Amino acid sequence: MLGIRALVVLAALLCAVAAPSSSSPFVVHESRSHVPLGWTPLRRADADMILPLRVGLAQPNLENLEAYIMDVSHPHSSNYGKHWSAAKVAETFRPTAETVDTVRAWLTGSGIEANRVKLTSNGGWLTADVSVAEAERLLGTEYFVYQSANEDQRHIACHEKYHLPEHVSKHVELVSPTLHFDARVGEVDSRPVGLERRNNEARKSSKYAVGQPGFGTSFPKTTGTVEAGSSYGVSLTIALTWGPKQPKVNALLVEYTPQAYLPADLDMFFKKFSPSQVGERPIMNSIDGGYLQTEFTNFSYNGESDLDFQYSMALVGSKQPVNLYQAGDMVEGASFNNLLDALDASYCTFEGGDDPTYDSIYPDPEGGGYEGPEDCGTIKPAYIMSTSYGYNEADLTPAYEQRQCAEYAKLGLMGTTVLYSSGDGGVAGNEDLCLNADGTQTANGTMFNPSFPGTCPYITSVGATQVNPNATVWEPESACEQVIYSGGGFSNVFKMPSYQKAAVERYLSEYPPPYSSAQYNTSGSRGFPDIAANGANYVVAMDGEFELVYGTSAASPVSAAILSAVNDARLAIGKGPIGFINPTIYTAEFMMAFNDITTGSNPGCGTEGFNARPGWDPVTGLGTPNFAKLLPLWLALP
Ligand SMILES: *[C@@H]1O[C@H](CO)[C@@H](O)[C@H](O)[C@H]1NC(C)=O
Ligand SMILES: *[C@@H]1O[C@H](CO)[C@@H](O)[C@H](O)[C@H]1NC(C)=O
Ligand SMILES: *[C@@H]1O[C@H](CO)[C@@H](O)[C@H](O)[C@H]1NC(C)=O
Ligand SMILES: *[C@@H]1O[C@H](CO)[C@@H](O)[C@H](O)[C@H]1NC(C)=O
Repeated sequence: MLGIRALVVLAALLCAVAAPSSSSPFVVHESRSHVPLGWTPLRRADADMILPLRVGLAQPNLENLEAYIMDVSHPHSSNYGKHWSAAKVAETFRPTAETVDTVRAWLTGSGIEANRVKLTSNGGWLTADVSVAEAERLLGTEYFVYQSANEDQRHIACHEKYHLPEHVSKHVELVSPTLHFDARVGEVDSRPVGLERRNNEARKSSKYAVGQPGFGTSFPKTTGTVEAGSSYGVSLTIALTWGPKQPKVNALLVEYTPQAYLPADLDMFFKKFSPSQVGERPIMNSIDGGYLQTEFTNFSYNGESDLDFQYSMALVGSKQPVNLYQAGDMVEGASFNNLLDALDASYCTFEGGDDPTYDSIYPDPEGGGYEGPEDCGTIKPAYIMSTSYGYNEADLTPAYEQRQCAEYAKLGLMGTTVLYSSGDGGVAGNEDLCLNADGTQTANGTMFNPSFPGTCPYITSVGATQVNPNATVWEPESACEQVIYSGGGFSNVFKMPSYQKAAVERYLSEYPPPYSSAQYNTSGSRGFPDIAANGANYVVAMDGEFELVYGTSAASPVSAAILSAVNDARLAIGKGPIGFINPTIYTAEFMMAFNDITTGSNPGCGTEGFNARPGWDPVTGLGTPNFAKLLPLWLALP
């Protein structure tokens, strides 16, 4: 998905170059084993071409992130619930003067004049326009022009790996442009990669931007039109008996343009299932020009948003508004980092610190898109954020994922609960792709393909269950085995966080999966999902008809609605929001308050996948949240 699918490339070492002289030996800073599917090296880049080099500076204290977040999020900690201010977060992770000085000295000492080197306003990046020849010397690499399979796009990147002096490497998270490829399909463009942009037509039909149809199987699936008969709409039977206590706004869903809900669909749904809410709409928070587009309307464009708001709004109830964060315009789209920029000014890389190979740049440098300033710390994070979009881990580089994952931890420190759907391909990734030993993704790959941000240890990953055929909602559910399979497994990037160690190790020792490291990462990495909720047979009003919809896409907003009611109850008695919930829900007493799912599995990659078993499992996590049992536990916490 997102175009970062892979292919095996000539193993020839195209980057072998003598290291420049420096005060410490060169070390490999980032590498990749293959270029993304569809790209081939065409020729060496011209030595005098100008690249907008950006050096992402290492944030201090990241090594303490887990300790910080456990301190405010673990129920046995004396600081439970004492969330940090945005200012404290910014202060704690701002690159140090030593880091800035070391990297600057390396650049100026390597022949880049001091007046060309600039520090971005948030202190996160050093930037300099450099020639290809200079970049090759700085990074001990060679830049190539790559061509896309359909020959309509060029991309400049270095091959396989790049280097930094050892004493500089530890002060740098990543350098751009280097290994990262444009995740979104684009036009022929000979300008430097950092400025590469598609023309408007190409961009509108871009298949791989977040929110675009075809983005991945995290999109819900439909089996077509139904009568809104009484035997469907099972999710509403969990309708909360909770009447919101106060008009505090505390839940929100994130959507990426061109995905948009249709007002008439909300009313059609409410009329049938929650008549008092006819006419209600989510509160719009536009990020980077996001708006409700009506240019394209069909399941691919309205399915996700219609589903998300019909169920979350009906479950939260009419007294409490649900917020919409609509990110990106029709031209540039948006990535998760664009959203995060809007939420946290300290993350926002104002003067162009986002990686333009993955992230959209505002104002649109080409014209034709959103021309206002980039949203940068302009939006206050809500207490609960649910997103039903996702990548495969293998679509992106580990450095990019680690940087983004740390940002979710910062939101957790500030008291926000971040939910992501775990994916709909079982142990396979989006589009049912699986991994090969060299890291490429193909339909015939045999290694499991985990999702991102699902595997980030600082988000709560939500899998899918089903009410079994012919069973009632009062009987135990299974892992979802209708139309979709619950995404789950083990990360290839993130280590197992301490909060889930006991639960995951119990699963692996009591119910050892019949697989080896040839199928999944057995080194003790992050297991996902954390929780689950029904993902089958949702009746959704869509483009004027009721359709039956399936997906972890549905499970995440439903979980958000339940957790929002918990927050509402805590706020009503003067307590704070629940924030990052994982350290809490993996404690013995909270685990008992989930409906444990013990049947079903998540097939993929030519296997039966993992089995749901008593306790945590890499299919349904701890199980589905039981609001009536969880509420008193959360109310009892400080
Ligand atoms: C929706 O329309 C787009 C083109 O406008 C098309 O590519 C896509 O397949 C359609 N989706 C469905 C579910 O009909
Ligand atoms: C797997 O699929 C790829 C194309 O996606 C093909 O090139 C390769 O030959 C296939 N491998 C096997 C073992 O079938
Ligand atoms: C559900 O019940 C119907 C009618 O009794 C029966 O025909 C069908 O086989 C049952 N399905 C399952 C999965 O048990
Ligand atoms: C397995 O996961 C760890 C992180 O826990 C990672 O460092 C390692 O590279 C992964 N191994 C493979 C083969 O992907």
